[in-house]
Amino acid sequence: MEKIRLALLSGGVSSERQVSLNSGIQVFDALDKDKYDISLYDPKTDLKQLVTDADKIDAALIILHGPFGEDGTVQGLLDLLDIPYQGAGVLGSSMAMNKLVAKRLYEGARIPTPSYLSFSMNEKIVPGKIAGALGLPLVVKPGCAGSSVGMTIVKKESDLKEAVALGFNHDDLVIIEKYIQGIELTCGVLGNDNLEALPIIEIVPGEGHEFFDYKAKYVTGETKEICPARIDEAIAKNVRELAVKAHRALFLKGYSRTDMILCDNKLSVLETNTIPGMTATSLFPQSAQVAGYSFTKLLDKLIQLSIKEHEKTKLRRSI
Ligand SMILES: Nc1ncnc2c1ncn2[C@@H]1O[C@H](COP(=O)(O)OP(=O)(O)O)[C@@H](O)[C@H]1O
Ligand SMILES: [Mg+2]
Repeated sequence: MEKIRLALLSGGVSSERQVSLNSGIQVFDALDKDKYDISLYDPKTDLKQLVTDADKIDAALIILHGPFGEDGTVQGLLDLLDIPYQGAGVLGSSMAMNKLVAKRLYEGARIPTPSYLSFSMNEKIVPGKIAGALGLPLVVKPGCAGSSVGMTIVKKESDLKEAVALGFNHDDLVIIEKYIQGIELTCGVLGNDNLEALPIIEIVPGEGHEFFDYKAKYVTGETKEICPARIDEAIAKNVRELAVKAHRALFLKGYSRTDMILCDNKLSVLETNTIPGMTATSLFPQSAQVAGYSFTKLLDKLIQLSIKEHEKTKLRRSI
């Protein structure tokens, strides 16, 4: 069988560049070299080369996080070049990347999400009003970012302005959300038309982490990740259903991973990741492993799903 000529995209220009480079190396190592001829592209420097090579690429694996990678821009370029790629397309990627748009779509689909207010840069912030409407503590986060970058938990009204300013360092939209104290869960889904919810992971950040912050996410041993999560089956069923519902509400494809918090038997959806972390020990691959997919098999599956999904678009191209 002929090898699939695979473009592996990692690096990029977002604040998650390093995370992406680390994932890229592990993905490269795990890919079956008998099946794939792999070329590496870093969008920071190699976009022109990617365009030049387009006719010699059968599929792309986008291992990029954050703006200019996970937000539909790279997906749009690959669409124009007629190259299949894993996961969400332009529409889903851009909507899921923007936490405000995602929350509006969750609300439209009756997916519970923490109460919130959103602010653009020129709007006046009145801490007393915000705390009055949502209560304290609050979570302040940039509209478009990831890996908990630019995020603060605010316990005192007087800290709100500084937290908002930090959020604006990363995006021109900031979301202020009600803080939900509870058990953090994340649930992956995999598939094109038939979606499979993967085993749920319970996330327990270690001492010294107020939440699942950047260090808790990426420093080995800082967080306990328990799969399957220690929750009742009735709740687990609800988590799986919400993960599938969120995937559909945001028009996603192939795979996604939805973050939630369980408080008093009620679930709140925080966000849905369209290119979840992809080191061998990241959450999505861990949960896939419990479902029986080794990291190598998971990558095969994502590539197969992308090629199948792309077949459909051929019918729409009158060339
Ligand atoms: N409303 C909230 N209540 C409690 N914790 C939150 C809330 N929003 C975010 N967090 C904490 O911050 C982490 C990152 O938030 P999330 O919305 O998933 O953004 P991202 O992972 O894209 O940076 C979560 O995993 C959780 O630990
Ligand atoms: Mg998250």
